[in-house]
Amino acid sequence: MSSPTHFLSPRTQDICLALKTWPEVENYLEVNKGVIIPIGSTEQHGPTGAIGTDAITAEAIALEVGRRTGVWVTPAQNFGMAEHHLGFAGTMSLKPSTLLEVVHDLVISLATHGFERIFVINGHGGNIATTKAAFAKAYGTASKLGLPAAAKLRCKLSNWFMVASVVNHARALYGDREGCHATPSEIALTLHMQPSLLTKQRQLPESAPSGSIYGPKDFRRRYPDGRMGSDPFLAQPDHGKAFLEIASSSLSDELFSFLNEL
Ligand code: NI
Repeated sequence: MSSPTHFLSPRTQDICLALKTWPEVENYLEVNKGVIIPIGSTEQHGPTGAIGTDAITAEAIALEVGRRTGVWVTPAQNFGMAEHHLGFAGTMSLKPSTLLEVVHDLVISLATHGFERIFVINGHGGNIATTKAAFAKAYGTASKLGLPAAAKLRCKLSNWFMVASVVNHARALYGDREGCHATPSEIALTLHMQPSLLTKQRQLPESAPSGSIYGPKDFRRRYPDGRMGSDPFLAQPDHGKAFLEIASSSLSDELFSFLNEL
């Protein structure tokens, strides 16, 4: 958890799985089969963005969605598939095969207890393919194990940075300078969550290249300062507050539909 738990507001404590006892989880399952897993990454975000950006943003939005919906939030999975960022110091990556097993095992653990709706809020594009593969594997495992929840088990991946209302707001604020990695929208959210990060903000050359992603050496050659097409200097903490509101509002609606899906 990125903030010490003793600083969490009572409303946040109410929806944190990490602060519950097992009998409380059993009682919750009597009335709600849904749970939120935040998943991020620990990877470079350009010369001015925090390594924890994708984890900080995913957890912040997951907790806000939890507060709005009453759906409990698990501890964040802060490591993701970031192989292409390994050319930059501080990046810690799971291989796709490792992440697949991690997400699979988390889903099966929750399904074993009777959770039927697993809502994954993701902060990193590199996690998408692997997380979906993990869901496919988990359905098979749940069925083979004969878990009572197997027939009703559903997993959903929601990438907050791809939510239409978020993309539209980012376009309105930043135009083409949003780019696709170390974007001002995600950096703005980290500035809102951790104001000390403002001290790292500085003007960078405006044009950062955009293009394909291959291996870590090639990534560093193509994108020497780590950004892809973005201008994170445009990020402001109050923009981050707005992104948190917009993303959480859309994802809360999405979560309610998901919980009610037959
Ligand atoms: Ni990111």
